[in-house]
Amino acid sequence: MKKVFIKDIAKHLGEEVKLQGWVRNIRSSGKLLFIIVRDGTSEIQAVAFLPELGEEKAELAKTLTLESSLEIIGIPKEHPKQKGVYELSVIDVKPIQISHDYPIAKKEHGTDFLLSNRHLWLRSSRQWAVMKIRHTVYYAICDYLNENGFYRFDSPILTPSACEGTTTLFEVPYFDEGNAYLSQSGQLYLEAGIMSLGRVYDFGPVFRAEKSKTRKHLTEFWMMDAEAAFVEHEENMKIQEGLIRFVIRRVLERNLSDLELLERDTERLKKADTPFRRITHREAIDQLKAKGVEIDYNDDFGAQEEAMLTEGSEVPLFIERWPKAIKAFYMKRDPENPDLVLGNDIIAPDGFGEIIGGSQREDNFDFLKSRMIDDNMSLEEYQWYLDLRQYGSVPHSGFGIGLERLVAWMSGVQHIRETIPFPRMIYRIYP
Ligand code: 4AD
Ligand code: MG
Repeated sequence: MKKVFIKDIAKHLGEEVKLQGWVRNIRSSGKLLFIIVRDGTSEIQAVAFLPELGEEKAELAKTLTLESSLEIIGIPKEHPKQKGVYELSVIDVKPIQISHDYPIAKKEHGTDFLLSNRHLWLRSSRQWAVMKIRHTVYYAICDYLNENGFYRFDSPILTPSACEGTTTLFEVPYFDEGNAYLSQSGQLYLEAGIMSLGRVYDFGPVFRAEKSKTRKHLTEFWMMDAEAAFVEHEENMKIQEGLIRFVIRRVLERNLSDLELLERDTERLKKADTPFRRITHREAIDQLKAKGVEIDYNDDFGAQEEAMLTEGSEVPLFIERWPKAIKAFYMKRDPENPDLVLGNDIIAPDGFGEIIGGSQREDNFDFLKSRMIDDNMSLEEYQWYLDLRQYGSVPHSGFGIGLERLVAWMSGVQHIRETIPFPRMIYRIYP
């Protein structure tokens, strides 16, 4: 018997095939039993004409319930009225395990209930679609970088010191060495990597003990950090834009049915695949002031300000040249204005917020050292990082993408917790 995935069913019309999966839905109408079977790749309606199945098989089929696992044998046919829609005429059904009182029903459930049942919620069609988009986005990022000369270079998760400030560190007891910290970003290690490989990236979970209870923050999220030698601010932004536009095209190419299921406006996504807008941090503040926002030239932007800055625009927005006072120690000073750094964020349109943070890095030993002293950092702990500016320092740049933020934007999902299999937030760690 040929075992097939539902996504390939059209290649087997008229053949007897076996499917393995779960019951998404089941209903009977007279002598007919309609079973929606899903197998991870797709779903299909299986139609059993009970008198034809025989009494024994019919009795077994009638025991099936929502989310029972099963094997089903039948013959795929194209739907008589709907082109491209297929059905399975059932020959035999073998329940594998009968599920009792599956907790997630058709009715609306509260978010807290769904999050407590995340292990089951993942089976629902919306979550299934988002996870497939996540898969596409993940590999699109890797493919783009692989095609553009970047080597995969894995950075450690257990680290002796901070990358992104000490206020959001998770501490882990570490034998006789005292405390270690969960990585906030692999960037500093990638800066060592480029001196060997030229261009590198990592991709993995990072951690922020951030007390932000927003729809854009997780305490554990996935970050892709990329870093390149001999790349300066301008080229760094070109790489970022190229990468995001590549991801948009890939998702539109591979996930149309998922986007449709999620009711994502794909025209809106298509329009974002155009040259991005650019403003400086100072211009952004001026725009906000003009709109009546009380904000200062040394302020960062919250979700609301980000939404205002992208209002009425279809394309992502670069915000570049930030005040050094509010950006990380490693960003290179702006040669045209020592109070600024050559950093950039990318803000996605439609309120999806910051998806990328990047910068040219400070490559001058003395400037970096004095900046670290100003920030009260331990030169001893970061000696290895300072070394990189003493042994063949070169201009270099990089950036980090928050995978979940990008997936949320692609899918049109409003809360980031739906874009990662098991979200970690300050008020939740189960399941
Ligand atoms: O802007 P961030 O903090 O930049 C860095 O960590 C740099 N070291 C990256 C680099 O240059 N290699 O974080 C990068 C991105 C943000 O733009 C955002 O998309 C995402 O990571 N991010 C979060 N996503 C979910 N939950 C959080 N708490 C996040 N914090 C940042
Ligand atoms: Mg940032």
